[in-house]
Amino acid sequence: MPNPSLLILPGDGIGPEVMAEVRRIIDWFGANRDLAFDVSEGLVGGASYDAHGTPLTDETMAEAQEADAVLLGAVGGPQYDDLDFPVKPERGLLRLRKEMDLYANLRPAQCFDALADFSSLKRDVVAGLDLMIVRELTSGIYFGEPRGIMDDNEGGRVGINTQRYTTEEIRRVARSAFELARRRGNKVCSMEKANVMESGILWREEVQWVHDNEYPDVDLSHMYADAGAMQIVRWPKQFDVIVTDNLFGDLLSDAAAMLTGSLGMLPSASLGAPMANGRPKALYEPVHGSAPDIAGQGKANPIACILSFAMALRYSFDKGDEADRLEKAVEQVLADGVRTGDLIGEDGTKPVSTSGMGDAILAALD
Ligand code: NAI
Ligand code: MG
Repeated sequence: MPNPSLLILPGDGIGPEVMAEVRRIIDWFGANRDLAFDVSEGLVGGASYDAHGTPLTDETMAEAQEADAVLLGAVGGPQYDDLDFPVKPERGLLRLRKEMDLYANLRPAQCFDALADFSSLKRDVVAGLDLMIVRELTSGIYFGEPRGIMDDNEGGRVGINTQRYTTEEIRRVARSAFELARRRGNKVCSMEKANVMESGILWREEVQWVHDNEYPDVDLSHMYADAGAMQIVRWPKQFDVIVTDNLFGDLLSDAAAMLTGSLGMLPSASLGAPMANGRPKALYEPVHGSAPDIAGQGKANPIACILSFAMALRYSFDKGDEADRLEKAVEQVLADGVRTGDLIGEDGTKPVSTSGMGDAILAALD
């Protein structure tokens, strides 16, 4: 069997810096765990624009379609802010998501014990938290037609966006959530606003249909998304997997993420339909951006990107035990008090550099 293929797209700003640490981790797994990947590297975002005049070339797009998994750093930066819309760095990322049809966005909110005091909530509320939000990513109000700013024919203007979901769009993301729940706490909470939105009524019915017909063993509940927002900050540990639409998922996943502290800690995965080899189309990336304010200074926290690779091990390569190993190494390093600058409060701890954090995680793996 050939090695699984991994396409790495470091991108801009701190993207290449954090990805360099992931490369060392990947090499460690190849050397120590008999888990070798065929790694290739490409350009995305501003880096691709600088080299090729486009934020993603057709060649790199084709490589991404073929790869068993894609790992991306971050795109963008102030030097690209004035570019025309079609060649803006984020268009490269959006093209990847769209053409790979990555409809399920997985955003874990996991609280490492050593960082529980970093949360804006009380330690008790967040310590041990392990919650997964599954956000529908390719449909809903960000994509529905009609949309636009139009004349209202009475001398004013009207801004329009349309929330639109088909049965199949709801069912496929619901399946992703139920599959995940089976590997975790076996519990799904679906959130919409069926009280005021027809698309929410359909959402609730179709999620229930998938449950009753395909996943009756998983515990399913429904919640209005506004009540869900309250519950996420009141007692987040009541949830295991939350599945919700694109708009609510955008907001709820950002809110849930902040329960656990720094942007530098947050991984994500975007999954699509299974390929011929049974693996889902998959793109893994940290939640943070290119952090131009600290780029090039060796200050970036590589953990978000490293945990994104752990998600790849778990969801693309079925190596949950190796993902656990990597997450435990991160937990160990944090428990030992190793901190990049973003994880330091007012207590005068001396920060380690990006590669210093990589060194510590490699040592913990050994
Ligand atoms: P950002 O996530 O890049 O930075 C926000 C703040 O968090 C900054 O102070 C930054 O220094 C800090 N930060 C982020 N990641 C960090 C890490 N790993 N370690 C330590 N500190 C970290 O978001 P911002 O400033 O709004 O956007 C900067 C650029 O990134 C923009 O061009 C934006 O369009 C782009 N962006 C790209 C994303 C992506 O590639 N998926 C997502 C969000 C923004
Ligand atoms: Mg958001």
